[in-house]
Amino acid sequence: MMLRIDILTIFPEMFRGPFDASILKRAREAGLIAIHVHDIRSFTHDRHHTTDDYPFGGGAGMVMKVQPVVEAVEYVCQAAMQDGIKSPAEVILFTPAGQILEQSIAKALAAREHLVLICGRYEGVDERVEKMVVSREISIGDYVLTGGELPAMVLVDTVARLVPGVLGASESLAEESISSGLLEYPQYTRPFDFRGEKVPAVLLSGDHQAVAAWRRCEALRRTFERRPDLLVRAPLSQDDGVTLSSFVRLPEPP
Ligand code: ADE
Repeated sequence: MMLRIDILTIFPEMFRGPFDASILKRAREAGLIAIHVHDIRSFTHDRHHTTDDYPFGGGAGMVMKVQPVVEAVEYVCQAAMQDGIKSPAEVILFTPAGQILEQSIAKALAAREHLVLICGRYEGVDERVEKMVVSREISIGDYVLTGGELPAMVLVDTVARLVPGVLGASESLAEESISSGLLEYPQYTRPFDFRGEKVPAVLLSGDHQAVAAWRRCEALRRTFERRPDLLVRAPLSQDDGVTLSSFVRLPEPP
């Protein structure tokens, strides 16, 4: 099934490039995803094509107007229907106040038929946009960007690679770290010895079981050291528990 993504922005030129290379380019050419970028400005009705205005109640900064955004959403939903899309769109607004993007959200979005991404700008978006058309607010992390354009690119990249057929066999999802709940184990390729830094011997042993055990142990070690918060949700075996407890250094008895 094809995934249709409509992006609403006042900076459509920012999107020239990121979707025109590598895996996303191939996925578009194969008809697995279709990405349409729309200029919110073209949905304004005034002579100056105004997309922002002063905040009611005063204060610094401008606010993105409700009318152009709502009409743009209505337009792309109608266009999608005419193209044969049957299920309602997931309409996403990017804002630091949204739910933090993570792999489980990307998976849910990859199963949809139609995504509409609203790139907020200025100091905010009129609250009625959220009330009238938005189904989900997403943040890509606890830091402030100048707008939702980069978050939209991040979301498209992470969702597109989960659409069936987008990744080739060599890019397979099977062994992926974050989806397994753990960080990735260390990887090596030739040469065996670079300036005295050698590849762990077990990886050259030809013993597939030993390699798998070493990788699991290193994935657990990394996750324990760098992202212990992930261990709470990761599916772990009894062996994993034994491995993890070997990382814990008990205090010397008095
Ligand atoms: N807009 C500004 N900063 C953002 C962030 N971190 N995530 C999503 N949208 C944003």
